[in-house]
Amino acid sequence: MALYSEKVMDHFMNPRNLGVLENASGVGEVGNAKCGDIMKIYLQIEDEIIKDVKFETFGCGSAIASSSMATEMIKGKSIHEAMKVTNAAVAEALDGLPAVKMHCSVLAEEAIKRALQDYFEKNNIPYNEEDFPDFDHDHDHDVPNED
Ligand code: FES
Repeated sequence: MALYSEKVMDHFMNPRNLGVLENASGVGEVGNAKCGDIMKIYLQIEDEIIKDVKFETFGCGSAIASSSMATEMIKGKSIHEAMKVTNAAVAEALDGLPAVKMHCSVLAEEAIKRALQDYFEKNNIPYNEEDFPDFDHDHDHDVPNED
């Protein structure tokens, strides 16, 4: 069986929503300390709807595919629906990721949440901190040790 699904390859080769949104309502940047990969998601939000979304990912193919898929999953959706997008849902939408690559999809979930948190903070919208990961912690998740 191929290591990567056709969907992963498709989103890696032809990423959707790649780029930057000037004047984004919220921007979320997260990284994984172990692999060094970085993901940035830009949201344009109007009336609690994600009107547009773009991403920049400096990372592996699975991270690029995960961010591409994640942006497709939240475009046109409400911020409440976007809050519910999990890394497992992103991986499932890609028809799966190899176990050692699951952490790449975690970046997508976290980047969306971080961008939403940024939006809430910029607009003085109260939010429950418990709904958000602690973005300052070391993002080592389950990255396999290289040595
Ligand atoms: Fe770290 Fe994919 S995001 S290897």
